[in-house]
Amino acid sequence: MSNQLEKVKELIAFREQARLGGGEKAIDKQHAKGKYTARERINMLLDEGSFEEFDMFVKHRCTNFGQDKKHFLGDGVVTGYGTIEGRLVYVFAQDFTVFGGSLSETMSLKICKVMDQAMKMGAPVIGINDSGGARIQEGINALAGYAEIFERNILASGVIPQISGIFGPCAGGAVYSPALTDFTLMTKGTSYMFLTGPKVVKTVTGEDVTQEQLGGASVHATKSGVTHFAVDTEEEGIALIRRLLGYIPQNNLEEAPLKDCTDPIDRLEDSLNEIIPDSPNKPYDMYEVIGAIVDNGEFLEVHADYSKNIIVGFARFNGQSVGIVANQPKMLAGVLDCNASRKAARFVRFCDAFNIPLVTLVDVPGFLPGTGQEYGGVIVHGAKLMYAYGEATVPKVTVTLRKSYGGSHIVMSCKQLRGDINYAWPTAEIAVMGASGAVEVLYAKEVAAAENPAKLAADKEAEYSEAFQNPYRAAQYGYIDDVIEPRNTRFRVIRALQQLQTKKLTNPAKKHGNIPL
Ligand code: HXC
Repeated sequence: MSNQLEKVKELIAFREQARLGGGEKAIDKQHAKGKYTARERINMLLDEGSFEEFDMFVKHRCTNFGQDKKHFLGDGVVTGYGTIEGRLVYVFAQDFTVFGGSLSETMSLKICKVMDQAMKMGAPVIGINDSGGARIQEGINALAGYAEIFERNILASGVIPQISGIFGPCAGGAVYSPALTDFTLMTKGTSYMFLTGPKVVKTVTGEDVTQEQLGGASVHATKSGVTHFAVDTEEEGIALIRRLLGYIPQNNLEEAPLKDCTDPIDRLEDSLNEIIPDSPNKPYDMYEVIGAIVDNGEFLEVHADYSKNIIVGFARFNGQSVGIVANQPKMLAGVLDCNASRKAARFVRFCDAFNIPLVTLVDVPGFLPGTGQEYGGVIVHGAKLMYAYGEATVPKVTVTLRKSYGGSHIVMSCKQLRGDINYAWPTAEIAVMGASGAVEVLYAKEVAAAENPAKLAADKEAEYSEAFQNPYRAAQYGYIDDVIEPRNTRFRVIRALQQLQTKKLTNPAKKHGNIPL
């Protein structure tokens, strides 16, 4: 065999060794936990045969605690690039079979390399986390490595989309990278995220809590909102990441991909002409409205299980990707509260950063009153949503279906927050406050002195409703551009979006604004 052939054989052997990560035993252990390996995940995620790997031969440089005798090619993370539906993406997947996927100085360098490359090319980064945290043997070098990654997450924010899949442990400071990215997805039962684990919690607070209770996927999908998606299996999670990217452009200078639209753009949806119940206190399901108006009823919901009184997610109108924000009258009457405001504000900012038009469906009775909300800072949380809509320069189309009162009317993409097209259904009630509240303030003395206070209050409420609880007052001033027939909503929204395709609007030059965080 020639020298050259020998060397090629050696290369092939090195590659095989690197592909085994921490070895067969560790791979079996990973599979026994119901988890895939880093390479298997990448292969599922990317278009077949598209993966090109970087840094397969990287080894850690640590000599503490006998580490100089323990080396694995690739050092605990698989990195590189490939395509999803033919579009370039960069990936890194932590390999739990190597030192528990723990983060070393060299692992950080590998991750930073793909992040830097993604920024240069203007392509998304997808990170799959499955790690025991900082590589304990490396101490401060691992810590510095984390900080290098976080800084890149921050600089890439709003420039390229960043998505984190949490498919195993993600604890301590490691949680900050996913938290800084645009979307986080967790697998139920096999992943968890927390700053301090159950043992520390027990020592500090005395609380007995399992990993799952403290930071499992369900907890973060429903209670904290830390994760945007919780899935049953890794396959489901990977399919979701692929689907999500279909709605998003490659970077902040591009538009989201257009899909062929098979759904007639002028499809009339008669059911919408009868969806609003006669009683203002009766709910209906906003999902039915969304499903009826978007292309083929397809909606990719974000934060589906968190703060369900507001709905956010992606859909298409005539093939164009849009972000939908909609109050949900079926849940707490669609009221805005701290969490709903934060949830929607973050989504609006994502869409604005990545040139995705916003379609807002309004049925909101107001902000939730009470000490719980006020002490929780509902003022600043509501202001976040207002800020997000007000600074957004993407096309903004708003349809008011029913209630739109007071401050909540303003924050839900009203005309004066530079709403481009604001439509209302004939059932819309756009007013400064509800009739009973208004009567209590305006006629308190008269009602108290009346022979029949209940009758006078009812009469005054009816008078107020007649005068103000309709869309025509707002339309009279041009705050509403048109009152539309509900069944025609799809067509009117598509027309509006078409008209707005060449929209150009820039905000005043500044270093950055100071959103009320
Ligand atoms: C080095 C680690 C490691 C780590 C796991 N391993 N975590 N090696 N540094 N952080 C190694 C284990 O020693 C083991 O090696 C192999 O990975 C698999 O781990 P197991 O414990 O066998 O797996 P499992 O039972 O599934 O438990 C997973 C785990 C546990 C819950 C993650 O390993 C664990 O508690 N690890 C330590 C977590 C931690 O305290 N991390 C540091 C936090 S400080 P062998 O050779 O036996 O196979 C931190 C600060 C970051 O992260 C701050 C950033 C800003």
